[in-house]
Amino acid sequence: MAQRLAEPVGGRGGAVRVPPPVHLPHQHVPQGVPRPRAVRRSRQSHARGPGHRPACPPRDLGRPGVPGRRRIRLRPLRSDHLTPHLLEPFSVHIDFESGLLSPDPVVLVRRLSSLAGYFLQNADTDSEVYSVHEIRVPAERDHLLSSTTIVLPGKVGDEYYMTKGHFHANRDRSEIYLTLSGEGLLVMALENGTTVTKEMRPGVVNYVPGHWAHRSVNTGSEPLVFYAVYIGDAGYDYATIAERGFPVVVVDRDGGPSVVPNPRYLAP
Ligand SMILES: [Fe+2]
Repeated sequence: MAQRLAEPVGGRGGAVRVPPPVHLPHQHVPQGVPRPRAVRRSRQSHARGPGHRPACPPRDLGRPGVPGRRRIRLRPLRSDHLTPHLLEPFSVHIDFESGLLSPDPVVLVRRLSSLAGYFLQNADTDSEVYSVHEIRVPAERDHLLSSTTIVLPGKVGDEYYMTKGHFHANRDRSEIYLTLSGEGLLVMALENGTTVTKEMRPGVVNYVPGHWAHRSVNTGSEPLVFYAVYIGDAGYDYATIAERGFPVVVVDRDGGPSVVPNPRYLAP
């Protein structure tokens, strides 16, 4: 299959043409079967005509008791020896100011109604709080998922707008945040209640090691926009945060952000 190349981002003409990811057929290669040899044998027999019988049909190789022939045992397929999806390279454009992707992102919007119980006070509107714009690749270990998140400015009571926050379902999976615009705080917490808070501003890369829950908080007056990259099978555990909360919250004190203990936090 001929490979189509994406036009480089920012190339001449200004247009960005991005081919969609193409899912090629699965490649099932049984472990223990020497595929190149099998291919050569197949080509030779085909070259000699359809009526030709190979000297050593693969069926005979597995027959016990045949002198001088090695028995080949077919083992069950194991997913960690396969490449389930082979994608074509592709490019996506990110507008650093708005965080919007083109083309074709998966967009998730969180409003105040879907964040009930996350803030210390109840909201009296259903305004949008944040949106996530994800680049489409399979959520599997051999891929890197990435997305932009746009956290709008605002507060519920004196608590700044924030994301739900989550652990990764596979706890040891790490993540990188690159802030593109706006300002905020990245709050991280271990399950034992230890917390670390890092600044988010344009150009700052935050590394979130495995086992740290993470939540981003917009402490500014403009949208907080960041790009995140993480291992495809990281998964999401929102339930732990929904049940226990974060150990700390970020609130407005005298016109600026302050990180204070969460009075509703349920320690493990
Ligand atoms: Fe994450």
